[in-house]
Parts: sequence; C-alpha cells; structure tokens
Amino acid sequence: DLLGQVRKDQHIEICRDQDVEASDRFTGFQRVQFIPEALPELSFDDLNTEQSFLGTCFDYPILITGMTGGVDKGTEINRRLALAAEAYNIPMGVGSQRVALDNPEYAPIFDVKKYAPNLFVIGNLGFAQLKQDNYLDLCRRAVDMVSADALAIHVNVLQEAIQMEGDRDFTDILKRLETVCQSLSTPIVIKEVGSGISSNTAQKLLETGIAAIDVGGRGGTSWGYIEGLRSSSSETMELAETFRNWGIPTAYSLVGVRALAPQLPLIATGGVRNGLTVAKAIALGADLVGIGLPLLRAALQGEQETRDTLATIVRGLKVAMIATGSRSLRDLEQHICLSHPMEKNFDDIVQSKSFY
Ligand code: FNR
Repeated sequence: DLLGQVRKDQHIEICRDQDVEASDRFTGFQRVQFIPEALPELSFDDLNTEQSFLGTCFDYPILITGMTGGVDKGTEINRRLALAAEAYNIPMGVGSQRVALDNPEYAPIFDVKKYAPNLFVIGNLGFAQLKQDNYLDLCRRAVDMVSADALAIHVNVLQEAIQMEGDRDFTDILKRLETVCQSLSTPIVIKEVGSGISSNTAQKLLETGIAAIDVGGRGGTSWGYIEGLRSSSSETMELAETFRNWGIPTAYSLVGVRALAPQLPLIATGGVRNGLTVAKAIALGADLVGIGLPLLRAALQGEQETRDTLATIVRGLKVAMIATGSRSLRDLEQHICLSHPMEKNFDDIVQSKSFY
C-alpha cells in the first residue's frame, strides 16, 4: 500500500502544478445565462443563501468536495479546509479513507471534527472497497473514523480503467450498495468524479436506497487525464489524452437526474469555479454545488487563502442573486434562460426595420 501513498502524493503535486482539467472547460453551464433585473428592489442584507441538505441547514449551498491530501500534506490540507468550511457553515467531504482503514495510524489525518466539532462531514470510500468481503465493516469503520454525517462512495470507472494498476472488475456493485444503504443508518451519497451520472444510471441508483447523488460531471478536474500525467508509459498517456474530455457535462447530468428524481438531494460537482456558476447550478436544480480543485490549490497555499477563495465564490453567488432580483436561492430558477428572450425580439425588429 506504500505504492498507493506515493500515488496520492503524486496526485497532489500534479493537481497543484499542471493543467488537469477538461481542455475546453465545458461544463454545460456556459449554455445558460441569467436575465438581469435592473431594478431588484432588494438590498444585500435581504439575500438569503441558506440551504438544507440531508436535514441540516447550511449558510451557503456549497460543498467542499472530498479530496485526498496524501499522507504528507493531508493533515494540514484537511485542517485548512475544515476551518474554512466551519467559518462559512458549509459541509465538507474528506478524501478516500481507504489508506486509514489499512493503516489505522493514518486515521487522524481525516478527523477534521477535532478542529471543527460542528462541521457536517462526509466520509469517503471508493467502489473498490465495496468489492471486499468485509465491505459493510469497512463502511462502518469509515463512518466512525470521522464521525461522518454522511458517507460518500465514489465511482470512477474511467480512472480505474486508464490507471495501470487500477481495478478491472466492476461487477456486483449495485447489490452491495443496496446492502450498505439498508445496513447503515448514515445516509449514503453516490459520487461520480468527472464522468457524470446518466439518467439510466440514476434510475438504477434510486432502487438501491441511496440518500443523495453527486453527479460529478465533465468540465473540471479530469481524473482519467491525471492518471496519464502520472504515468511513465506513453501508452497510458495517449489513452489519457483520448479521454481527457470524456463524460457528461455537469449541467447536463444535473438536469437529467433532476428531471428523473424531483425530490432527491443532488450535488453538482465538476468544473464549478465561481459564484455565478454556483447560482446557475442551483437554478438548474442542485441542492449543493461541490467545488474541488480551486479549494485544494488554495489549501496548499494557506489558511487565509482557503477562506479568501471561498469568500470570492460566496460573493459571486450574492452578486448573481441581487443582479437577478433573487431574494432566496429558490428564486434563481425564475431568471435562467438559454438565450435572452430579447434576442428574438431584436432579430424581428431589425429584420422589419421597424426601429425607424
Ligand atoms: C479529488 N477527488 C476525490 N474524490 C473522491 O471521492 N475521493 C478522493 O479521494 C478524491 N481525491 C481527490 C484529490 C484531489 C487532489 C482532487 C483535485 C480531487 C475528486 C473531487 O472530489 C471532485 O469530485 C473533482 O475534483 C471534480 O471537482 P472539481 O475539481 O472540478 O471542482
């Protein structure tokens, strides 16, 4: 498992120093815009950004997504993220706890409640852990390790398939997922990490009894591509290049799953980089919007940088709200459009030259 650790530390450095995102950054959110309200009749103090998720109310609809910090830097990264999450009263995921299940001496890396006792923490395991005979025990131990309020199980077929030493057997996961959902009292979140969840997959997931889905779409961090950057094999690098932009764009996955499951708690993650995009995701039906890479990079710099990064995102969300006249997050959906209604109007008027 030392190899696994080397891998995680390589991931962090690659994510810090290189371009690891979809080359065109296309998340689908570029396709939608807001219609501004020039006379919003609101003050900044009126804006209500509160959001409930799995029975808990947060000040903002933002999730710091689970990211491994590796063994070297993990403790400090998690501390900085936890303090920022606590300051904004938003939830936080931890990275894959697998390493600490194998080596209990690493468990303190993940125990973020020691810095922020009231933090809503989402534990994290991969579907590979569901393939172990003792998978229920692993899930329970992961929850206990961080006193998790929910447990995310990430699925990353593309990454595993490209990774030389990755898993090759994806059978029997749904049945085991159902058993986990039935056996644990902690809500289970299924989390894609960049390929998105299709409506078809969502339908199967709904039958397992999961509590929430993170659609983890394309447009941001590309894990298939990272495996290529890490690899010394030119064959793997070529594969990674081929699949760099693979997946369902985050916005498309979000609306597809939302249409299928109007009540299901949904997280939209993948390529969200500012508060305006957070607002768009909320308008398209997300309950929470997950942000990874920018917060990891900030956390590698410092505690203040992490807070500042969140501050800018939160401010962007509020700007989008006031500039559309949205008092609450719910109101945002009234103001979203594919193309401005005045565009058609414009075409008609110019065509007929009736502006004279
Ligand atoms: C991740 N991500 C991740 N996800 C997960 O479920 N378990 C994990 O251990 C990790 N580890 C991890 C490490 C690093 C360095 C990064 C950048 C990301 C995936 C993350 O939670 C998120 O789903 C993706 O990064 C997509 O979001 P962004 O980065 O495009 O905002």
